[in-house]
Amino acid sequence: MKYKTLKGLQDILPPDIAIWQHLESTARKIFRNYGYQEIRLPIIESTDIFIRSIGETSDIVEKEMYTFKDKGGRSVTLRPEGTASFVRAYVQHHLYNNPAPQKFYYTGPMFRYERPQAFRYRQFYQIGAEAMGIEDPKLDTEIISMLSRLLSAIGLEGLNFQVTSIGCKKCRPAYREALKKFLKDRLDSFCSDCQRRYDLNPLRILDCKVPGCIESRKGSPPVIDYLCDECDIHFEGLKKNLVELKVPHTINPNLVRGLDYYTKTAFEVTSENLGSQNAVAAGGRYDSMVDEFGGPPTPGIGFAMGMERIIPLIKESLNISEGPEIFLCPLGETAADKSLLLTEQLRSEGLWAEMNFDGTSLRSQMRKANKVGAKRVVVIGDDEITNNQAVIKNMQDREEINISLDVKDFIKVIRQ
Ligand code: HAM
Repeated sequence: MKYKTLKGLQDILPPDIAIWQHLESTARKIFRNYGYQEIRLPIIESTDIFIRSIGETSDIVEKEMYTFKDKGGRSVTLRPEGTASFVRAYVQHHLYNNPAPQKFYYTGPMFRYERPQAFRYRQFYQIGAEAMGIEDPKLDTEIISMLSRLLSAIGLEGLNFQVTSIGCKKCRPAYREALKKFLKDRLDSFCSDCQRRYDLNPLRILDCKVPGCIESRKGSPPVIDYLCDECDIHFEGLKKNLVELKVPHTINPNLVRGLDYYTKTAFEVTSENLGSQNAVAAGGRYDSMVDEFGGPPTPGIGFAMGMERIIPLIKESLNISEGPEIFLCPLGETAADKSLLLTEQLRSEGLWAEMNFDGTSLRSQMRKANKVGAKRVVVIGDDEITNNQAVIKNMQDREEINISLDVKDFIKVIRQ
């Protein structure tokens, strides 16, 4: 084979595309109920945007970004996630002037140069949502509840919804010190990346995927023990509201996010059916990012779900059978002309109609109708045209009904 997709990328083909569309349309319905509006953002941005927000010492920025110079010599990056681009747009278009909370969602491809493995791609699709302008943990509860509702509407089961608070700029210095104290004597057992990050950003050590580092950091102090009063009150409010709304969740004090911009609430949804890449969705609060991007101080919270991780989980249970509502099998040239006219008329009536084009035997035409998933078949030969009479056959229950070659008759049978 001469050309193939690049490593870590994949084509999404029918019939899988029907499941993707189901996922997207379910998400759109739920977003609408919660007042989220769609935005479409460029997939390429100034590199700075991602460095400033995701963090210089994060794996994404250090190792995974598709960064290159454009023809004008500017450093640009294929977006590795949507939140930084979203906040750039939020500030650029002064969206903070609209009544809060302002709520948005997006879908589209993200790019990370990660080591490809099952459920981990270099181009992957996210559906993301962001809500801006409200600090109250009731908004955190609302968005977590929306995500939970969305995942069950899609048909996902066996999920684990983990929630925590990772504090803010005020409580972080004390936590940083406590963590460094814990890590100090065992630093030799960590990988070189972690050793380098010890002084730069020790919190990133908690996110390292190297098995030895995971083992060595066991027993490290959890952030929730170091929350300042404001973060503590916020977290207590979130926990109370989640219980009141009966949103299924567990508090996981050891949850860490791989992006630096998070403050206070952080959450992740994992599936027991996905192996090591088990996060289907994740998100959290980012109360400093708008400010850092040059906008007025504005809190924000959001999440993104990974579509490639959700599709395999619902594929088996979904029965989306795509196929034409009617398939015309002409025998001979005159019948083919008549079929061409009829299929066009049926499409004008809003139906999915197909005809066979290659004048093969009736048997092979019927085989083709079966293969494309046709729900009904009509054979049109010279006799049918002379008598203005044909038989419409239901391919599921094999029932046969006589009809005239008038499009109104076809529609009556198909829509009955
Ligand atoms: P994230 O945790 O980096 O967060 O990614 C969110 C989800 O994207 C993951 O839970 C996973 O399902 C999917 N994902 C990530 N990397 C890959 C990959 N290489 N292959 C397949 N799926 C992947 C964010 O991106 C944040 N922007 C979420 C957010 C929105 N936080 C606040 N607002």
